[in-house]
Amino acid sequence: MAKRKHRFTAKNADRHTLYQLSVQAPEHEVELLSRMYKRHTGKRALTLREDFCGTGLLCCAWADSKKDRAATGLDIDAPTLAWGHANNLTRLSAEAQSRVTLLEQNVLQPTPKKHDVICAFNYSYQTFKTRELLLQYFRAVHRSLASDGIFVLDLLGGWESRQTLKEPRAVGESKREGFTYVWHQASFDPITHHFLAHIHFHFHDGTKLKKAFTYDWRLYTIPEIKELLTEAGFVGLDVYWEGDDGEGGGNGEFERVETIHDDPGWNTYIVAKKQPPTAGSKDAARAARAR
Ligand SMILES: C[S@@+](CC[C@H](N)C(=O)[O-])C[C@H]1O[C@@H](n2cnc3c(N)ncnc32)[C@H](O)[C@@H]1O
Repeated sequence: MAKRKHRFTAKNADRHTLYQLSVQAPEHEVELLSRMYKRHTGKRALTLREDFCGTGLLCCAWADSKKDRAATGLDIDAPTLAWGHANNLTRLSAEAQSRVTLLEQNVLQPTPKKHDVICAFNYSYQTFKTRELLLQYFRAVHRSLASDGIFVLDLLGGWESRQTLKEPRAVGESKREGFTYVWHQASFDPITHHFLAHIHFHFHDGTKLKKAFTYDWRLYTIPEIKELLTEAGFVGLDVYWEGDDGEGGGNGEFERVETIHDDPGWNTYIVAKKQPPTAGSKDAARAARAR
């Protein structure tokens, strides 16, 4: 049989596979979450809840990273969870699979089980467009965390995040193996901060998968998020900023900062703590130095 010229085309490509290849870096996130929790408690994080988990890729990487780790993913979309079960979960050993639970559940409902770490990535919580709903979500997270647990969210901002634009990025090592990921910011309303964006995929055979994913969000600011987290009961908050690659872009390395210069387009992590740092941890030592 003749070899296909392009691995991905609009006809054969699967949007979840393309998404995972384009935007997700689960091993990096496992390392980052582990580091954030250790710093706060001095202990290793064992249980993760991934909110808006989609295909549960991060849950799988978490369970696969250490034999004593367990992960629970929450998402309201049954077909996406089923895809994750068939394509991500089944790649793990049977033993590791037994430590992952993917639940069809609204993140606004607290889970009875308490977690060391809860995360909400890909800015998904911005689907809650009112203060009341976002506060309800943060309160549900607070109730679902262990007493020394942390909640980690990512956030995007900077003036470029409010512009209408299309940002193409090549994915894959070669034309045969690759495709183009296009981030399309379609609209932003400065009065409501409502923001509409799409992901399109363009293929090297000339075909396209338009609007493979659509995001209808309210773009929150860091102070708004901080205020709502505090109102929900979180006592300490850290902001992790991405380092510079020397060419105007980010280098993928995130460090905690107190203040930062403005940036045209940024992506940050916010870490919210349920209680003050555990005695003996790095964070406790830092707090003592600051007194
Ligand atoms: C963009 S995906 C996030 C995928 C993954 N977390 C990541 O970091 O790339 C957003 C997911 O949030 C889910 N979702 C939206 N509202 C939700 C809610 N209220 N509760 C649970 N999941 C929700 C959608 O079904 C979708 O799968």
